[in-house]
Amino acid sequence: MEKKIGIASDHAGYEMKEFLVGYLGAQGYEVLDFGTDSPESVDYPDYAHPLAEAVESGQVPLGIALCGTGVGMSITLNKHQGIRAGLAWTPEIGALIRRHNNANIVVLPARFITNDEAVAILDAYFSAEFEGGRHQRRIDKIPVPKQEQ
Ligand code: RB5
Repeated sequence: MEKKIGIASDHAGYEMKEFLVGYLGAQGYEVLDFGTDSPESVDYPDYAHPLAEAVESGQVPLGIALCGTGVGMSITLNKHQGIRAGLAWTPEIGALIRRHNNANIVVLPARFITNDEAVAILDAYFSAEFEGGRHQRRIDKIPVPKQEQ
């Protein structure tokens, strides 16, 4: 997988995002930072949508999103048909959202984890591989079925 990644946060995730941009850069990742750029209060959808579009278009293969609980980012990102955003708060969940859900964006609850925990979650997410098989069958059933007329 290409060592290129998108990242976005609201104000609640800003400090952790800045820390992770440094961490990822040191790991050799090219990081596309979609903001926010200060701890001033902002609205998470304004940052979620550009990140989702970058992943959907293939500009970056994977993304990282942060907000206080991770829930606002998750809800918004998953409105995009091409996005499977997984909220992860332990390394085990970080690995499972890749193995089982083939999540293309990992969402971190910045107000509920430490920087060290965030790194452990990302490392688990990056090193896991999608298992396919029954998990692919389930993913294929995610889009809302078209109604018969
Ligand atoms: C901001 O206070 C907070 O509501 C936001 O970061 C996020 O947790 C929303 O889901």
